Amino acid sequence: MVYPRVASFKSHEDFIAHLRTQGLDLPCDKVVETGDSSTLGQSIPIEGSSIGNRFCILPMEGWDGTTDGKPTELTVRRWRNFGISGAKLIWGGEAAAVRHDGRANPNQLIVNDANASEIEGLRKELVHAHHEKFGRTDDLLVGLQLTHSGRWARPNDKSKLEPRTAQRNRLLDKRQGIRDDSAMLTDNELSVLVDDFVRAARIAESCGFEFVDVKHCHGYLGHELLSGVDRPGKYGGSFENRTRFLRDIVAGIRAEAPTLGLGVRVSIFDYVPYVSGADNIGQPDDGDPRLTFGGDGSGQGINLDEPMELMRLMEQLGIKLVCTTAGSPYYNPHIQRPAYFPPSDGYGAPEDPLVGVDRQIQATAQLKRAFPNLIFVGSGYTYLQEWLPGVGQAVVKAGMVDSIGLGRMVLSYPELPADVIAGTTMPRKKVCRTFSDCTTAPRKGMVSGCYPLDPYYKARPEREMLKQLKA
Ligand SMILES: Cc1cc2nc3c(=O)[nH]c(=O)nc-3n(C[C@H](O)[C@H](O)[C@H](O)COP(=O)(O)O)c2cc1C
Ligand code: SF4
Repeated sequence: MVYPRVASFKSHEDFIAHLRTQGLDLPCDKVVETGDSSTLGQSIPIEGSSIGNRFCILPMEGWDGTTDGKPTELTVRRWRNFGISGAKLIWGGEAAAVRHDGRANPNQLIVNDANASEIEGLRKELVHAHHEKFGRTDDLLVGLQLTHSGRWARPNDKSKLEPRTAQRNRLLDKRQGIRDDSAMLTDNELSVLVDDFVRAARIAESCGFEFVDVKHCHGYLGHELLSGVDRPGKYGGSFENRTRFLRDIVAGIRAEAPTLGLGVRVSIFDYVPYVSGADNIGQPDDGDPRLTFGGDGSGQGINLDEPMELMRLMEQLGIKLVCTTAGSPYYNPHIQRPAYFPPSDGYGAPEDPLVGVDRQIQATAQLKRAFPNLIFVGSGYTYLQEWLPGVGQAVVKAGMVDSIGLGRMVLSYPELPADVIAGTTMPRKKVCRTFSDCTTAPRKGMVSGCYPLDPYYKARPEREMLKQLKA
């Protein structure tokens, strides 16, 4: 199935007409407001302070830290770009492991005492770049995303998975060569890990971060625990047990770093893993639909009852910031980062990627309507391309979300938030067309970046290697 490319819609009317033919009632404003009257330029009040506008930079790692978990020049460049974007909320910068065995790749940052001054330096570079361009940072909120990669850990070798899982999963265990319970973290090991998260949060606070994200998305450990219905013991089974890890970490951080802000990035729904089928189009594989947090039991549908319960828990825990996302880049990327061109380990789009964009926006809106006091950041907007500002403005105006999270788009076009608010026309050559090279490159052992559009990455030798690999 071939879907029309977003760049082929020549007018607002064409774009809306296409959405409606897909049965999508996604709103999109025709005129994007600018300057003082910009909806996307309005601040968000938060605990006596404010976040200066409605754009958020989503966490994106570059597989480019040192092997001992410190940032490199490439990492610093990306964070500087986040700073000059104009977005006033920086959701975590990138996933940073709370300890070595939880790294998703041997170049992921590690939050430990030995790396604290470099990680502090990274934050300062971002804040400094922001200040240089915009003249103020009192309305900028910067957090650090804390992670343990669980089932998807590759701490020592890019090509070697060293999974630490929450529970058995027939299909994923098979794909990952797990044959017995030995990869499963015990309850005692999880208790130790809680302390590691708390220690990392303390270090993040000492580095000047205003909040930490206790990551619960994308199939990594926190997220897998949420669907741990088969796990025995105190961290599995009931909803109360499946959220114990989060509650224990939050309690620990409150005790040790009482003034540090807290956020949670969560996959609010999940599907079973997909596989490349006929004509390379993605189709559901033989996964267990019970192991999909926010799933409806079919493996390809949504039931937000448990995510709603999780939001209620967030409120009880006093967590204000929630960043919504979906699924996992490893087993169902089309629901997480809708794309026209799949990454090398992916599959052809099984639906118009706009359907995937709409799915995340509508699910987030349901949560926002039920929990108006939580601050919601949405994800998956990049595929909207030229229509991103119009849709972003419309959904913020409609109260469907508080902040528009930007992932891939800021790799190709970092200045988008500032340009949109200033009314500067988007330069077409910078607009991310979802070529997926920023996902393919790390899958092939290279650093991530926007090879097709960012002149800096265009000039790197990896670009030629990528071209050859793709050919
Ligand atoms: C290169 C790359 C790295 C990413 N790294 C992270 C990460 O470290 N933590 C995380 O929560 N999400 C990560 N993501 C997911 C993005 O934050 C975002 O959810 C996704 O790209 C969809 O948003 P978009 O449509 O704006 O790109 C990454 C995505 C990409 C493309
Ligand atoms: S490589 Fe560039 S154009 Fe392709 S998806 Fe990533 S950011 Fe977008």
